[in-house]
Amino acid sequence: LCRGVSTSAVRNVVIKNVTIIGGGQMGAGIAQVAAATGHRVTLVDTEDDVLKKAKGIEGSLKRVVKKKFADNPQAGEEFIQKVLQNVSTSTDSVSAAQSSDLVLEAIVENLKVKQDIFGQLDKVAPEHTIFASNTSSLPITDIASATNRLDRFGGLHFFNPVPMMKLVEVIATSATSKETFDSLLDFSRVLGKTPVSCKDTPGFIVNRLLVPCLAEAVRLYERGHGSKEDIDIAMKLGAGYPMGPFELADFVGLDTIKFILDGWSEKYPSNPLFAPIDLLNKLVAEGKLGKKTGEGFYKHK
Ligand code: NAI
Repeated sequence: LCRGVSTSAVRNVVIKNVTIIGGGQMGAGIAQVAAATGHRVTLVDTEDDVLKKAKGIEGSLKRVVKKKFADNPQAGEEFIQKVLQNVSTSTDSVSAAQSSDLVLEAIVENLKVKQDIFGQLDKVAPEHTIFASNTSSLPITDIASATNRLDRFGGLHFFNPVPMMKLVEVIATSATSKETFDSLLDFSRVLGKTPVSCKDTPGFIVNRLLVPCLAEAVRLYERGHGSKEDIDIAMKLGAGYPMGPFELADFVGLDTIKFILDGWSEKYPSNPLFAPIDLLNKLVAEGKLGKKTGEGFYKHK
């Protein structure tokens, strides 16, 4: 049998039990949406504190319920309790993975760390279990290479904030089976999201177009060809963007944008769209990372 392909793989998996590794911004959001759509979710993090905070899912659910159950607060409260009952938390990924149909990883954006966890879980997860990563910028193929289930490995790339954003990019590597890919598409739809199919290429669809656009906006400003404010106004009123590129960069985090660009420029040094940007590097070095630190391209209250 060649590496990564097993005979038991050729079947569609209906995903009911989900293990989410990483209870940060993305993991907690995905857990909330999966629980709200009737899945049994185990949220795993190495930090107990993070898991306690992930109980903040309740606060987020309250906001959803306020709108959805405006006429019936009692039913809203019952919905919240039902959703919360679907979520358990754990610091033990090995035991969580043993009873899941899908292991979805949303931990730190580091190839080695992601490979380590999947390599470990590959040995204990059931044959049918699908593995997926929420990575923004790492090749799914590289992450999957740490396992022997290349046919049952794909990408599920969500957007922040997960409960609000409708899109999921579903990524197939050259080894992902059709059954696995279909299961991931179905799962995304059951979550109430709209999936799009992507190949395992840098940035998939959204970031491959968005990150160079943000980078070009910074370069245009750096050359003195427009003010930040004017570039933002121009793209909002002229291109119908809901946020201008500098507003969006501050929202996403300048460190995240730099991290993605640096990774790509190292891998594709001849692509000028990925080239390093002095101003971006300077702001990050000064700790001006955007909204989360109170200042990026703009000052935030
Ligand atoms: P985050 O920093 O909020 O959360 C990561 C969590 O993973 C932390 O709570 C950390 O304690 C935990 N963790 C780290 N190593 C672990 C391990 N070995 N086992 C269990 N837990 C571990 O990060 P965030 O923003 O949620 O991003 C997670 C992933 O999602 C990254 O791969 C990122 O590229 C991707 N992503 C992020 C988006 C964003 O807008 N923040 C959007 C789409 C994807």
